[in-house]
Amino acid sequence: NVLILDFGSQYTQLIARRVRELNIFCEIKPFNHLPEDLSAYKAVILSGSPFSVRAEDAPHPDLSQIKGKKPLLAVCYGAQYLAHFNGGNVAPSNTREYGRAKLSFVEDDEPFFNGISVGSQVWMSHSDTIKSLPTGAKKLASTHDVENAAYRIEGEETYAIQFHPEVYHSTDGKQLLENFLVTIAGVAQTWTPDSFVETTVAELKEKIGGEKVILGLSGGVDSTVAAVLLHKAIGKNLHCIFVNNGLLRKNEFQGVLDQYEGMGLNVKGVDASARFLENLAGESDPEKKRKAIGRVFVEVFDDESHLVEDAQWLAQGTIYPDVIESVSATGGPSATIKSHHNVGGLPDYMKLKVVEPLRMLFKDEVRRVGASLGIDPELLGRHPFPGPGLAIRILGDITAEKVAILQEVDAIFINGLKEWGLYDKVWQAGAMLLPVNSVGVMGDERTYEKCVALRAVESTDGMTADWVNLPYEFLQKTSNDIINKVRGVNRVVYDISSKPPATIEWE
Ligand code: XMP
Repeated sequence: NVLILDFGSQYTQLIARRVRELNIFCEIKPFNHLPEDLSAYKAVILSGSPFSVRAEDAPHPDLSQIKGKKPLLAVCYGAQYLAHFNGGNVAPSNTREYGRAKLSFVEDDEPFFNGISVGSQVWMSHSDTIKSLPTGAKKLASTHDVENAAYRIEGEETYAIQFHPEVYHSTDGKQLLENFLVTIAGVAQTWTPDSFVETTVAELKEKIGGEKVILGLSGGVDSTVAAVLLHKAIGKNLHCIFVNNGLLRKNEFQGVLDQYEGMGLNVKGVDASARFLENLAGESDPEKKRKAIGRVFVEVFDDESHLVEDAQWLAQGTIYPDVIESVSATGGPSATIKSHHNVGGLPDYMKLKVVEPLRMLFKDEVRRVGASLGIDPELLGRHPFPGPGLAIRILGDITAEKVAILQEVDAIFINGLKEWGLYDKVWQAGAMLLPVNSVGVMGDERTYEKCVALRAVESTDGMTADWVNLPYEFLQKTSNDIINKVRGVNRVVYDISSKPPATIEWE
């Protein structure tokens, strides 16, 4: 196990992902929540930070139990922090050093730089620079602008680098992490999807024993993988509930339910479409629509969970980015953590004990674990789909008729993407039903019908997104199909807005 101490860098999660790619397990902890017992950690990595080490309110944790005692890799801020407090000198650099640079000097004889030579590209992002090295340090690398781009403390397994090995633009970054973690720290590369499944299933068996667990399936990747893991551990004692809110894609409810049953899951499909639509009737405010859907979901789920006698546990598909304690943006010592349990006034099912088998995994790892569990690759590769479903893609109020129209449009678009081999090149796609009628002509008749907007985006996490440059021929064919086949639609537009300033969904 490797500890990554977070000083608030935007890249901290990337460090963790690179380490995991080496099949090494690691955890991120905020600098001000250093675990008391460090014995489980074979090596420690210090992250970068938006702070200057010279600032009074900058992170200045006590590393006396780590430095010199365990293999330590200090990145960017971490490297400056070690220098600043150990006899070196950190000062503002003349120019903010940002972007690609090439190593112009590398100390050959160092296992740390095995396989990495002069000319290797690295990614810099810092405004302070290390003017002089700390006591006992030896320079290991430089770039044209940064004299002290890497150093080690002699007699210790302490290494420090000014650049960011976790960023893809550092072409040998992964090699460097491997050199440090495997060659120098001797950490075993045994964290694989298979080993995760094996240990997690054993842990779940031990933790849950013969008790019953309730889990809400959404059709998405996370809840599905969580369910299959739990099923492997406790079999029929896992009671899955899959709610149809009437806002899913065309045929999705039955299709996904069949798939779940085919996997042997103990799943109950609950068709609550009418209840959702009744509660949405006449509502066109986006936030109120979301709230109504959330409220009805809780009611339905609560009713259903009461039907499972003696349930003790609620399983959730929470993943690691949701639970990492983050160093607050203002850098104060307060670390925040998301928490939604054990609060008064919650529905009964929320008073259950919570089990979250994926809470240590990143999204791409969830997919890999899913593959190792034998889950259908098509299901694992599904685009994200929002909880409120088509409700936030129907602008204005929702009626059953509008849902049916949008389901047809969406199906033509999504199936077309699959047929043209474009589905996997797109991060998310869908159609929006606009509250706009426009004039058209069909045959000899004038029409006055609805307009739909198609949206397809590239993204890594949904936080930022770019519209996808879909081939004109594809758009042409899709538009024709939609207008010819879906009654009530006579116009199709393609959304060419990026996020920011737009968002992915229209509501
Ligand atoms: P936006 O529209 O904010 O969407 O750019 C970013 C990502 O989040 C999804 N999304 C939601 N997912 N409940 C969800 O589970 C929601 O209320 C919700 N709103 C947006 C959206 O589909 C996109 O992937």
